Amino acid sequence: MVRSTTLVAAAAALSLHAHAESLYSKKSAVVQITGPEYDRVIAKSNYTSILEFYAPWCGHCKNLQPQYEKAAKSLAGIAKVAAVNCDEEINKPFCGKMGVQGFPTLKIIRPGKKPGKPTVEEYQGQRQAKAIVDIVKDKIPNIVKRITDPKLDDWLEENKESAKAILFSDKGLVSATLRTLAIDFAGIVNVAQIRKTEAAAVEKYGITAFPSLILIPAGSSEPIKYDGEINKESMVKFLSQIAPPNPDCPAPKAKKPKAKKDDKSKESKASSKFSKASASHKSDEASSAATSAAHETLEEATKPTESPTPEDFVEDTKISEEIETKPSLLSLVESSDLQASCLNEKSTTCILALLPKDETSEAATKAVASLASIHKKHDVRQTNLFPFFSVPATNPLSATIITELSLDNAEQVHLIAVHGKRAWYKKYTGKAFDATSVEQWVDGIRMGEGTKERLPESLLGSTKKEDTPEHGEL
Ligand SMILES: *[C@@H]1O[C@H](CO)[C@@H](O)[C@H](O)[C@H]1NC(C)=O
Repeated sequence: MVRSTTLVAAAAALSLHAHAESLYSKKSAVVQITGPEYDRVIAKSNYTSILEFYAPWCGHCKNLQPQYEKAAKSLAGIAKVAAVNCDEEINKPFCGKMGVQGFPTLKIIRPGKKPGKPTVEEYQGQRQAKAIVDIVKDKIPNIVKRITDPKLDDWLEENKESAKAILFSDKGLVSATLRTLAIDFAGIVNVAQIRKTEAAAVEKYGITAFPSLILIPAGSSEPIKYDGEINKESMVKFLSQIAPPNPDCPAPKAKKPKAKKDDKSKESKASSKFSKASASHKSDEASSAATSAAHETLEEATKPTESPTPEDFVEDTKISEEIETKPSLLSLVESSDLQASCLNEKSTTCILALLPKDETSEAATKAVASLASIHKKHDVRQTNLFPFFSVPATNPLSATIITELSLDNAEQVHLIAVHGKRAWYKKYTGKAFDATSVEQWVDGIRMGEGTKERLPESLLGSTKKEDTPEHGEL
């Protein structure tokens, strides 16, 4: 008798525990979803989402929680930050179907080509708010048209019938905020970005400050200038004078029963549909179903599935810390290193800093620091940026490059971009070597802007590399 009472109490405590211990409070900026809600709230949304699969008892999940909350706050209005508690019965089939094998697992889900069929990929970055924010922002699709002076009239003509918004910016890349704004107003307002350097467009609309946003209603040529702050919420309000933005996801079906926790029939249907749930999840289900299981037993049975801190994650941290304390670039000391990395018929874009004899000269130090900081920024965001190298003056090939490309003034540091496969190069013509102007130059290369000069074949040695990894270029 005593024994069975204890069992009943244990079972009650167990089920209470399972529901009470959600890692995120109701007020949290983290959207908490259940498996059955995934399709509507995440998969069919036009937004990019990050979804955490967690278990309340998992230590790494608890460590992530404050960082994840922080990421959710800074991504508000830009991307969805969501979480699903895989310990809840209703979510187990879903977690299994998504291939979750340990906690926490983070996946980035963004709209695919077909509506409702999103692209899902595992998030492998650092479990820190900043890395999460940067990487998620980077994944947001871009439907903002980048317009140059010669293309402006055509674009205005093509979109005569619809409202248009143009952001004038001194940057070439389209920010996450503008990308999301364009998604919010897809089919309502056509959004474009024009760079400060497009003098005719800047003049046409009398733009004097950057960034500046203008709205051109359908059938009008009179732009309405926006004088608010460049933030998502106020820009949405401004564009809403045309029409309200798209809904963030389809509305729930009216028939859907309100019952939240114990919708048994739905739950069992879901389980049979996703019978492929992983073995570990099956055993979770079995152990939590056994009313005699004590809390500790449950914890013990499930604990081994907790995600260890991935090793490359630890390594990443080390690398970025190193760069933080001492900005440096990988150095190509030998001719053969340079040839194998950047100057062969298969090599793709490389940025080279050809250093003068005096590597501590002000220009050289500045150039290297600028490149290192730009690369670090991209590493943190996990964008694929082509590699940056420094080449000491003692590398015999350095002098050859300087002569062949007639780079004047051998005392100075030279920054060049080379693409072996396509046999072009571009040089940095600025004098300052500060991070901003060097970054503008790098961005121009990423965007394929500006003129490229032909790389003399004599610089492309015949070293055939087996498989040069493709570095991402926009
Ligand atoms: C998504 O974008 C399309 C336009 O591309 C729009 O028609 C739709 O309302 C948006 N929202 C949802 C939830 O699909």
